[in-house]
Amino acid sequence: MNVQARHGPAALQGRLDAALARDAADELAGMRARFALPHAADGTTLLYLCGHSLGLAPTAARAMIEAEIAHWERLGVLAHEDAASDWIGYAERLQPLLAQLAGAQPHEVVAMNSLSVNLHLLLASFYRPSGQRRAILIEAGAFSSDRHVVASQIDWHGFNPEHELIELSPRPGEELIRIEDVEARIAHEGSRLALVLWPGVQYRTGQLFDLARIARAAHAVDCQVGFDLAHAIGNVPLALHADDADFAVWCSYKYLNAGPGALGGAFVHERHCAGGDLPRLTGWWGHDPGTRFEMGPQFRAARGAAAWALSNPPIFSAAPLLASLPLFAEAGMTALRRKSMALTAYLASLLSELGGEQLTIITPADPAQRGSQLSLRIARGAGHGRQLFQALLARGVVCDWREPDIIRIAPVPLYNSFEDVLRGAWQLCELLQPRR
Ligand SMILES: Cc1ncc(COP(=O)(O)O)c(C=O)c1O
Repeated sequence: MNVQARHGPAALQGRLDAALARDAADELAGMRARFALPHAADGTTLLYLCGHSLGLAPTAARAMIEAEIAHWERLGVLAHEDAASDWIGYAERLQPLLAQLAGAQPHEVVAMNSLSVNLHLLLASFYRPSGQRRAILIEAGAFSSDRHVVASQIDWHGFNPEHELIELSPRPGEELIRIEDVEARIAHEGSRLALVLWPGVQYRTGQLFDLARIARAAHAVDCQVGFDLAHAIGNVPLALHADDADFAVWCSYKYLNAGPGALGGAFVHERHCAGGDLPRLTGWWGHDPGTRFEMGPQFRAARGAAAWALSNPPIFSAAPLLASLPLFAEAGMTALRRKSMALTAYLASLLSELGGEQLTIITPADPAQRGSQLSLRIARGAGHGRQLFQALLARGVVCDWREPDIIRIAPVPLYNSFEDVLRGAWQLCELLQPRR
């Protein structure tokens, strides 16, 4: 098919009818109305394909924040114990909803802090270097904050990150890390390894990993394993308890749609909670809620992951999370994943057909090894890299750019449609292969 035939208005119209038919049959289509869709200065709705970076605002969020401001205005300190506001128990209300998404028991999860802070707090418990066992394994090209966190932890314990931080790269000439290479490297490092920190979904490539296999490999050499779920929670089904993760951390502003800098979360497997024998950094909010306000000098741990909480929860930041999480329960993660796979497969097929040689999808083609996001490598010179992304934005398509040559794009099943995917892919491919 020549470029004109692929990109002409008639070709778009034919495809549009098919996309609209899929939207009409979509059981989750109604969820879109529960989100505020961003718009340009002239009022036109933007085509938002960037939920992997910042999820959209649930329409309920504003009212829920305003309700808490009203509680504050009306009740002052009394709002902590008022039945309607229940600021004391606010974080606990999030637990069952988060647990469903994490594949955990409610007491294994806690809403607190932000991702990097939670990672430090959990490494304080789970990274206990001793003797020859003091190395941490991460993926090469890990998110910068994760790398800073683990390198500084190694340093904090008096060791040298140049020796004790092991970064596993893909094989030469490959983009993705093979799961069997992760397992082999863990087995190879063996008794050197104190901890493996691995992403659920890698932020740059969009690769989804089999967490159970990684946990099994780590435990086989007696080391701890934790997961960074920034790009996984709310994106793909998780089973942290059954997969036997020791701990996990996440942020809530991506697929969880809880707003910029939103309250993050953490998981601690119940086997580490029961005896309470892990050392941890403590604060009053991790104290047993039954006796917390007795203000005694002895720390008595709250049940489960909540024992890692330090401070009373920021209510205005927690409110949008409480607005968003019930939408996942309402839609159901099975239905969301089904739609996500369909949207992403549709996007991949359009890009493969229309994108030409200047665009390569580096995210795995196997739907079981990816979530919503596709990462596209743009050939050097094609649309002048970053300018291509800016040109897309000028056409009202919001995705993001990762230096030096990656566009990340994610159709989110809660609020994106097949029409969005078609129009977004169409604009991108038109920019890559102008009709003239
Ligand atoms: C994979 C990953 N890890 C860590 C972070 C850091 O998160 P925070 O700024 O909430 O600590 C992010 C933020 O986008 C991320 O994507």
